[in-house]
Amino acid sequence: MEDIIQKIEELKKERDAVILAHYYVNDEVQDVADYIGDSYYLSKIATTVTQKTILFCGVTFMGESAKILNPDKLVIMPDLASDCPMAHMADIDMIDKVRKEYEDVAVVCYINSTAELKTYSDVIVTSSNAVKIVKNLPNKNIFFIPDENLGRYVAEQVPEKNFIFNDGFCHVHTSITKDNLLKAKEAHPDALILVHPECTLDVVKIADYVGSTSGIIDYATNSDTKEFIIGTEMGILYELKKKNPDKKFYSVGHRQFCPNMKRITLEKVYQALLNLSNEVTLEEELRQKANKPLARMLTLAE
Ligand code: 13P
Ligand code: SF4
Repeated sequence: MEDIIQKIEELKKERDAVILAHYYVNDEVQDVADYIGDSYYLSKIATTVTQKTILFCGVTFMGESAKILNPDKLVIMPDLASDCPMAHMADIDMIDKVRKEYEDVAVVCYINSTAELKTYSDVIVTSSNAVKIVKNLPNKNIFFIPDENLGRYVAEQVPEKNFIFNDGFCHVHTSITKDNLLKAKEAHPDALILVHPECTLDVVKIADYVGSTSGIIDYATNSDTKEFIIGTEMGILYELKKKNPDKKFYSVGHRQFCPNMKRITLEKVYQALLNLSNEVTLEEELRQKANKPLARMLTLAE
């Protein structure tokens, strides 16, 4: 392993490359990353890095977002097949239908979406900025795609708007049940429950904190409490334990595992850097259309 890490470090310099990684990728991949974060942080940092090449260790929509925002960079990924199923769970006909039905509507699209879906949207949001952005939109009606659960969470925080929901979901987060959490709480009564807003609303309602992966890490790190039940993908445990060696973190079941994030291995990172392979490419017209709502997110989230 030492050997491959060394080679990756050398290739980064030779190829003028920077590695961005999401908290859900394998621990050893997080170790070779220059920047690790939630989706919002990663899309923001991608616009400021100076290297010619971005190697994105995450799922397709993350690499695509980096390319949309930075057309002049070479964006590559360790495995182009590591796709997020939820990114495809919205229908363009449905967007057209909602736009016809509601005069004053904003199509708010979670960043976990294909580049094509982004082109039909008014603004992109992530779990860390969705509430703020939706609150400040001038529109009364909000069609939230693709994730129903994040949409319902945002709707609870912004009761003054009228929401239309879509039926997309994340299979990792919807497998975290209220029952599992309550059982974990019974076993660890002093622990606080921290969950991601992709969980179902009944789960979100019993949580002590709801937020993005970075939000969960910050909350646990800044809290005086010593024990936490974690309601999101278990890759996050690596950073949580690194930052908080004196605290205890409990998962709630064996299914808190995103198979697509876990496709990314050190060997694939090495091969992608060596061959500058698996380039993320987008047709220019599509990229420009997708860039509008994504760039709008970066402005509105400030
Ligand atoms: P974050 O933006 O909170 O890191 O979430 C990304 C994601 O895919 C959650 O499933
Ligand atoms: Fe997609 Fe869920 Fe994996 Fe996040 S955890 S990348 S939403 S499948």
